[in-house]
Amino acid sequence: MRTLAFHTTKSILIECGASRRLASHVRSMGCQSVLVVTDPGVLAAGLLGPVLTELERDGLRVTLFAEVQADPPETVILAAVDAAKACAADCVVGFGGGSSLDAAKLTALLARSAESLVEVYGSNLARGPRLPLILVPTTAGTGSEVTAVSVVTTGAGEKNVVVSPLLLPDLAVLDAELTLGLPVAVTAATGIDAMVHAIESYTSKHLKNPISDCLAREALRLLSANLHRACRNGADLEARENMLLGACLAGMAFANSPVAAVHALAYPLGARFHIPHGLSNSLVLEPVMRFNLETVAPLYAELADIVLPGLAGDAQAKANALADYLGRLAGELQLPTRLRELGINEADIEDLAVDAARQTRLLGNNPRELGIDDIRAIYEAVL
Ligand SMILES: NC(=O)c1ccc[n+]([C@@H]2O[C@H](COP(=O)([O-])OP(=O)(O)OC[C@H]3O[C@@H](n4cnc5c(N)ncnc54)[C@H](O)[C@@H]3O)[C@@H](O)[C@H]2O)c1
Ligand SMILES: [Fe+2]
Repeated sequence: MRTLAFHTTKSILIECGASRRLASHVRSMGCQSVLVVTDPGVLAAGLLGPVLTELERDGLRVTLFAEVQADPPETVILAAVDAAKACAADCVVGFGGGSSLDAAKLTALLARSAESLVEVYGSNLARGPRLPLILVPTTAGTGSEVTAVSVVTTGAGEKNVVVSPLLLPDLAVLDAELTLGLPVAVTAATGIDAMVHAIESYTSKHLKNPISDCLAREALRLLSANLHRACRNGADLEARENMLLGACLAGMAFANSPVAAVHALAYPLGARFHIPHGLSNSLVLEPVMRFNLETVAPLYAELADIVLPGLAGDAQAKANALADYLGRLAGELQLPTRLRELGINEADIEDLAVDAARQTRLLGNNPRELGIDDIRAIYEAVL
């Protein structure tokens, strides 16, 4: 086997209700002043009340920063860092979906180190140190709690990333109770995002590795078996637990064997049109898979055996069946399936394609090389 270095979050606690018992973890890190980073939607969902009460009851100083926006822009990160400094936070708790967790990760870094945000864009440029960091996901999607990545919206059409082991938290808390009230559309979109993480990790060109492969297979098994269930009945705790675990395993997989063209083409949809991350992925998933099929049909066939057990036929037939299944999935879950449904028109395709073509970090991981004409054709296919 070639050299393999695998990185993930060092402590992961999976426990219903654990988010209401965070104080002991904060104390065990020697911290007294906590900044909780979240967004208005999570706040309005009423998930934070018991969490904050318990932290305060334990005598900890708690400050709430609830201004994260979806696909967080730079201004949000900088405001959160200011809030951390103003309250002399010695611990950051990220609480929410990927947007809140990504913002919390950078807040913990920039509130403690002397670096600026622009200095740390890119891979392994951050030097740290950072504040102690706990991440509590409330969506079963991004796996941000186990990735060394934060995604930031930098302009009208672009996202930039910070990649650094410093962004892995000290502790991730997976509390499925927090996801019981997740709206159907968010459950569906974030669940498909997690499935895409598993699929793209399994077919990644450069860093595909046996640990990520195991995680991606198990993630896809859990996610495909529970997504319809969780959407039908949001209160199904077992389905919610399986989704949260599946998303976390997919996160571990792609953190070490990275995502590719689906994410590259999804990014401009989020940055330009504010389409939620999971939905952006879901829109372009099937045509990207059809494009990749000639290169990775055997790998897609292996995943098809997990998602659609008992399938007959050769690798090509199974791979096609997987693409068919994923092509139907969004519609079955009542998500939009065409760009036009989201106000995107023919005239927008060129800008989208130019932006996606700039995502060279992600495109380089794709098993089959894509040029701008291929990218344009994929957007056209889902217009
Ligand atoms: N760091 C990574 O490795 C990584 C990976 C993939 C995506 N991302 C980033 O993550 C972001 C997307 O994250 P996301 O898909 O989790 O969405 P999100 O964090 O933007 O949240 C989506 C919506 O769901 C609401 N919400 C979240 N949890 C809820 C709950 N339990 N109940 C009710 N409402 C709830 C939020 O208020 C928000 O309105 C994007 O910025 C994307 O670029 C990061
Ligand atoms: Fe994603």
